[in-house]
Amino acid sequence: MQDWPGLIEAYRRWLPVSAKTPVITLREGATPLIPAPVIAGEIGRGVKVFLKYDGLNPTGSFKDRGMTMAISKAKEAGSEAVICASTGNTSAAAAAYARRGGMRAFVLIPDGYVAQGKLAQALLYGAEVVAVQGNFDAALEIVRDVADRYPITLVNSVNPYRLQGQKTAAFEVVDALGEAPDWLCIPVGNAGNISAYWMGFNEYKQAGHSRKLPKMMGFQAAGSAPLVLGHKVEQPDTIATAIRIGNPVNREKALDVRQASGGDFMAVSDAEIITAYKLLGAGEGVFCEPASAASVAGLLKRKHEVPNGATVVCVLTGNGLKDPTTAIEHNDAKFHTGLAANTEVVAKVLGF
Ligand code: F0G
Repeated sequence: MQDWPGLIEAYRRWLPVSAKTPVITLREGATPLIPAPVIAGEIGRGVKVFLKYDGLNPTGSFKDRGMTMAISKAKEAGSEAVICASTGNTSAAAAAYARRGGMRAFVLIPDGYVAQGKLAQALLYGAEVVAVQGNFDAALEIVRDVADRYPITLVNSVNPYRLQGQKTAAFEVVDALGEAPDWLCIPVGNAGNISAYWMGFNEYKQAGHSRKLPKMMGFQAAGSAPLVLGHKVEQPDTIATAIRIGNPVNREKALDVRQASGGDFMAVSDAEIITAYKLLGAGEGVFCEPASAASVAGLLKRKHEVPNGATVVCVLTGNGLKDPTTAIEHNDAKFHTGLAANTEVVAKVLGF
């Protein structure tokens, strides 16, 4: 098998890079599209469901796709430092790629609302981490100000190179299926990824790689659903901390995507997210983080609207290992503790 070179090399002709661009890569991309027979079985009617498991990227989330581009372009422009606000995954990816490129990484996170694994990553990758007493939206305002005033490159999804990199996930979906899916179900926070996927599907269709475009179905957590409500949410709240965002910067783009694709936005409750999260784990053997499970929670909520025989792709944006706390608190496993290290005792408790 040939070695995967990372998404910039793999999709070079689709991306704004040149021979002068120093490619900073951890060989991101080429993530699997996994059939989900248990979820498909909940829908029936010949519907096929696939999981785009982007939690298998090098830092464990889809953010690596955007970050290889944003950091390579920052390096090309001579930047020595990058900054972002983050609910955790962007900070992990920014830190890893910036350090790989020999740059400093500054990350602002909402104090107390970032999953453990993500914080561990940002620290270990050598970012300078600032936890602020405010939510993601407040942190984003600050980093935008800082990047305006000082020689630091902003690598949140307002940076257009981020979406360029992220659109390659749509290419991979079409490459794997040989056609675009009928529905794409995706969690929505700052609304960059849904916009990037739509760009990717459109570019591939224009080039003749697919004949159709998917309906884009965006799902937000009920306590943080500004796009569903049609207004900002001042105090966003959800167990899915990755999408705990009340004022998405890519709002206009996402509304255009909804309209152009004939798709929809909908809120899913934390209880629905956790049900889907557990079904993915114990039913499909796929461990994603809670925010990612919103795509499956949304699909199950809208299952009666899926056309017979349709192909649906749910995007699993982040790896479950990012947030061990939620997994340990929310599962239906039998967990026997404190037993003697003795075969008889163990066999008995196992029911033999
Ligand atoms: N899923 C996960 C796991 C995320 O980390 C995010 C966003 C999203 C979905 C939503 O994507 O913002 O493009 O609509 N995380 C950002 C961060 C905000 O800072 O890591 P979006």
